[in-house]
Amino acid sequence: MNDTKIQRYAEAIERYLSEYFLYDEPQKKLFEAMRYSLLAGGKRIRPVLVLAFCELCGTKAEDALPFGAAVEMVHTYSLIHDDLPCMDNDDFRRGKPTNHKVYGEATAVLAGDALLTAAFAQLASANLPSERIVKAVSVLSQCAGELGMVGGQILDMAAEERVCTQEEVLAIQSRKTGALIAAACQLGVIAAGGTQVQQKAAETYAYCLGLAFQIRDDMLDVIGDLKQLGKATGMDENKNTFVRLYGIEECEKLVEKYTQQAIDALCVFDNAEFLIDLANSLAKRFS
Ligand code: IPE
Ligand code: IPE
Ligand code: MG
Ligand code: MG
Ligand code: MG
Repeated sequence: MNDTKIQRYAEAIERYLSEYFLYDEPQKKLFEAMRYSLLAGGKRIRPVLVLAFCELCGTKAEDALPFGAAVEMVHTYSLIHDDLPCMDNDDFRRGKPTNHKVYGEATAVLAGDALLTAAFAQLASANLPSERIVKAVSVLSQCAGELGMVGGQILDMAAEERVCTQEEVLAIQSRKTGALIAAACQLGVIAAGGTQVQQKAAETYAYCLGLAFQIRDDMLDVIGDLKQLGKATGMDENKNTFVRLYGIEECEKLVEKYTQQAIDALCVFDNAEFLIDLANSLAKRFS
C-alpha cells in the first residue's frame, strides 16, 4: 500500500517537473541539458518527503508540489556538478551518460546554475501564504548553501587527501546529503503551516535518515551494480566513507541505527506509518 503511495507522489512530481524548461531557441541547448538530468528518472525521494510531511501535517500534498519541485531541482543541480571532471568525474548518472558527457562541461555547469536559480522561482510561485514561502526560502537556501550541501561537498573534497575520524565523516555526510533531505522534510511541514515542534521533528528525522541514506549510498558503491544503481560503482576508493572506516557489516548496523533514530523522531506525529515504512525501505535499497 505504501509502495502505491510513493508511486502516487513520485508520479505527481514527475508530471509537474515535465512541464518546465520547454523553451526553444535561442537557449535551446541549456533547456535541453536541464531537462535531460531533471527528467532522467531519479527516485524522487526528496519531493516525496516534501509531499508526505505536508500531508502528515494536514494539508493536501498537491499544495506542496512547487516546494517538492524546488528541492528536486537543487538536488539535480548538485548531481550535475558532483559528476563533473573537477569533482567526482563520473560518466553515468540515473542510468544515462552524465550531463557533461552529453552537453560538455560548460553547458553542464550552466544547466546546474539555472536549475538552482529556478528552484527559488518555484518556491515563489507556490499558491501558499507568503510567510510560508519566506520560511521555505530561508530553509532551502541555508540547507543548500555554504553551511549545508555545498559546505559538505567542499569538506568531502578536502577530505580526500587524508583519513578522517568518525566525527569528521559524520559532519561531512550530514551536510552534503543530510542538509537537503532536512530541507525537504521541513518544507513539507512549512507548506502545511505546521508547528515549530513538527518542523524540529521533521528536521531530526531528516538528518538521521540522511546519514542512513548516505552510508547506504557508500555501501552500494561496493555492493551495488551499475544497472540497478544507474551510476558506476567502485568510485569511492579514495573517499572518506563509512565503508572505509568500518567495513560493510558494521555499516549495515549503522544504517539500522540511524534509521531507528529517524523513526523515533516521528513520535510527535499521529499516523506516520508512511514515513516509517519509507525509512525502513530506504535502508535496504539497491537503487
Ligand atoms: C544521490 O542521491 C546522491 C546522494 C546524496 C547519495 P539519490 O540516491 O537520491 O539519487 P537519485 O535522485 O535517485 O538519482
Ligand atoms: C553526493 O555524494 C552528494 C551530493 C551533494 C551530490 P556522492 O558523490 O556520494 O553521490 P553519488 O554517489 O555521486 O551519487
Ligand atoms: Mg561526491
Ligand atoms: Mg559523486
Ligand atoms: Mg556516492
